[in-house]
Amino acid sequence: MQTKQLRINSILKDHEAVAEAAAILRSGGVVAIPTETVYGLAASAFDPSAINKVFSAKGRPADNPLIVHISEFDMLPDLVADIPEKALELARRFWPGPLTMVLKKSDKIPDAVSAGLDTVAVRMPSGTVARAIIGTADLPLAAPSANLSGSPSPTTAAHVLKDMDGLIDAVVMSADAAVGVESTVISLADDIPRLLRPGAITLEMLEEAIGEIIVDPAVYDMPEEGEAVSSPGMKYKHYSPKTKVVLVKAVTEDYISYVNNHSADGVFALCFNEDTGGLHVPHVCFGSQEDEDSQAKALFSALRALDDQGAKIAYAHSPQKDGVGLAVYNRLIRAAAFELIEL
Ligand code: TXA
Ligand code: MG
Repeated sequence: MQTKQLRINSILKDHEAVAEAAAILRSGGVVAIPTETVYGLAASAFDPSAINKVFSAKGRPADNPLIVHISEFDMLPDLVADIPEKALELARRFWPGPLTMVLKKSDKIPDAVSAGLDTVAVRMPSGTVARAIIGTADLPLAAPSANLSGSPSPTTAAHVLKDMDGLIDAVVMSADAAVGVESTVISLADDIPRLLRPGAITLEMLEEAIGEIIVDPAVYDMPEEGEAVSSPGMKYKHYSPKTKVVLVKAVTEDYISYVNNHSADGVFALCFNEDTGGLHVPHVCFGSQEDEDSQAKALFSALRALDDQGAKIAYAHSPQKDGVGLAVYNRLIRAAAFELIEL
């Protein structure tokens, strides 16, 4: 299949490309679109055969449900069975933005989207290009991250092309993702809200808005074999570059000497900008130790860069687990297949 490249820098100047992306989606095609978190692989949420194309392009297990993207609040009632008060409050505060809410689904959501669950995940992205495409298509769009299943999520159009060229109808070539990690996922389908995946809308922000929240154990730890998981995506090995990643929790000096002591062919440091001074091994940085937003933005590019540079093993400096740092930690511990060294 020839994958068309549609350049959209401005939704006004590039309105023809917006219309073309929307037309492909309306006719059952699959288009990679930019969002503020990561690029997504979009298809009509109401078209099971288009959804199947998304699963096969990614090589995604059929039991892992998709997030449905809307461009305005009026699109929500059609998708869900009801809208609890806490969901209204979160939508008021954080939509459009990097927050996904899991709610009881309506009959309109095909099983292919919800993977047979009785819930559906919905979010309203803040990126203007994403919202223009959804609005022009006049359809809710189901969209997982636009990477091959298991590899790091794409934060640039170049990442998308690397994984998806020849597999999908079109890629929207647009700006790099501003946030860099996928949306926060919170379930409001039960009495007490449950954080399923941390993101740029932090646990602290959510608690301030709606009070008590249960943090799903899978946010920090590996689910046990056969254990029921609230979010099917949590049980898969995720975000993994080919490079073996080992997470190292240590203060700067100890981290640097640990990595230097393990110097060998193919050994890299996946480090903060501040760590580079004393390192005697090749390194890839993922932002500043003091600035979790910069870490989120750089992480997935850094994981891909390790592969591109032929790293065999990368010792990653562990971020703090509060604020947006929890999202960065959650992705890194999965990239490391839960291998953590505490010094
Ligand atoms: O930022 C994002 O959320 C990006 C962009 C493209 O919007 N999308 C994204 O989709 O990260 P994906 O498919 O890579 O991750 C969706 C996560 C998975 O862990 C999945 O299991 C979970 O959301 N999920 C989806 N529907 C769910 C549901 N009904 N109940 C529980 N978890 C659900
Ligand atoms: Mg994904």
